[in-house]
Amino acid sequence: MKYRYGKNANYENFSSGRVLYHIKGMTNFPVRLAQEIYGRCLEYSPKKQDICLYDCCCGGGYLLTVLGFLNQDSLGRVIGSDIDLEILDVAKKNLSLLTREGMDRRIREIEEMIVSFNKESHREAKNSAIRLKGLIKKDMESLVFQADALKAIELDIKPDIIITDVPYGNLVDWKGEEQYIVDRLLDSLYQISSPASIIGICMDKGQKVRNDKFIRLEREKIGKRRFEILRKG
Ligand SMILES: C[S@@+](CC[C@H](N)C(=O)[O-])C[C@H]1O[C@@H](n2cnc3c(N)ncnc32)[C@H](O)[C@@H]1O
Repeated sequence: MKYRYGKNANYENFSSGRVLYHIKGMTNFPVRLAQEIYGRCLEYSPKKQDICLYDCCCGGGYLLTVLGFLNQDSLGRVIGSDIDLEILDVAKKNLSLLTREGMDRRIREIEEMIVSFNKESHREAKNSAIRLKGLIKKDMESLVFQADALKAIELDIKPDIIITDVPYGNLVDWKGEEQYIVDRLLDSLYQISSPASIIGICMDKGQKVRNDKFIRLEREKIGKRRFEILRKG
């Protein structure tokens, strides 16, 4: 795959657990790929600014947070939901880093760790936090709520862009059942999308989209992942 938007850069400031919060079992999405999918979605979106971005399987909010930092000029609001209530606490903390106040709180937390443990990794984390704070041009609005993405999602606003990294591999990873699970997810997303909403859905190579309510704009394979860019048909 040829990257059009994801720069080949050093993304170590975004390493999970350094400044962004991490808990066991949380997956991390490759930053360059996230940026590529967002860039392609934005290309198809008629709206280019004040974008409302939604992730319906947001986990700890890593993907949303990273995109929030890297797309300050086009993003207005980030929204995440997940079925797992516990992980949403981490998502909330991560999304709070997209505000100056949230980042200052995190810097103070890291400073306390430096005092307590005198570790080089904490000093590096503080430098990363200061660099990430430098990316903030405005306090990003965010919202996190619990929802089963395979059922009706209660969201009043129609997101401009939906990007989601669906649970991989074994269908048992889904807290739902049945085959064609990605299509069931798309059925839910259909209800909360507008005709202008652009969907970037990332899945494992074994998962397929067969939902004829959507038009496929792009399809790419990258390593063990595939992603598709879709719009309502
Ligand atoms: C691959 S992870 C997503 C990681 C996330 N993009 C991030 O940046 O941290 C998949 C997530 O889907 C969630 N999930 C599983 N079944 C779900 C369902 N039926 N509805 C909503 N979320 C679900 C899991 O709890 C998990 O957090």
